[in-house]
Amino acid sequence: MGASLGVSYEELIKSAFEAAENAYSPYSHFCVGAALLTSSGEIYKGCNIENSSYGATNCAERTAFFKAVSDGVRDFEAIAIVGHLEGKEAESYAYPCGICRQVMSEFCNKEFKIIVARSVSDYKVFTLEELLPESFGAENIN
Ligand code: THU
Repeated sequence: MGASLGVSYEELIKSAFEAAENAYSPYSHFCVGAALLTSSGEIYKGCNIENSSYGATNCAERTAFFKAVSDGVRDFEAIAIVGHLEGKEAESYAYPCGICRQVMSEFCNKEFKIIVARSVSDYKVFTLEELLPESFGAENIN
């Protein structure tokens, strides 16, 4: 099973678990990791970064996207996402929140792959179109 560009879904999921190790989540104790595969085969990792003013929290997916975009990278193939309570195994699949899906839609086409994983061998793959149908985009602004 694989993504493309010589990077397998399993590798991408492994990177997402590594990213989750850096989660700063003293309030929810929920650690999220994301690994974003660029069209040139690089992987950008991101974790959730919480704040005592809860609304200032940044999700793992957006951390990965903002790291890449701020490096001048704007072409992406796939993202793997994992989430688990501190010190525990992942129990459920960590689906991206609505804001993160909207950020993905700014930079990715409908075929962009979103992999939600509980382990390197237990995962589901969706397209962005499946998780964010009928979305609002630049074409709606006249
Ligand atoms: N979180 C993410 O990192 N990504 C999501 O898509 C959903 C939620 C984080 C935010 C917060 O630090 C914790 O999970 C609990 O909501």
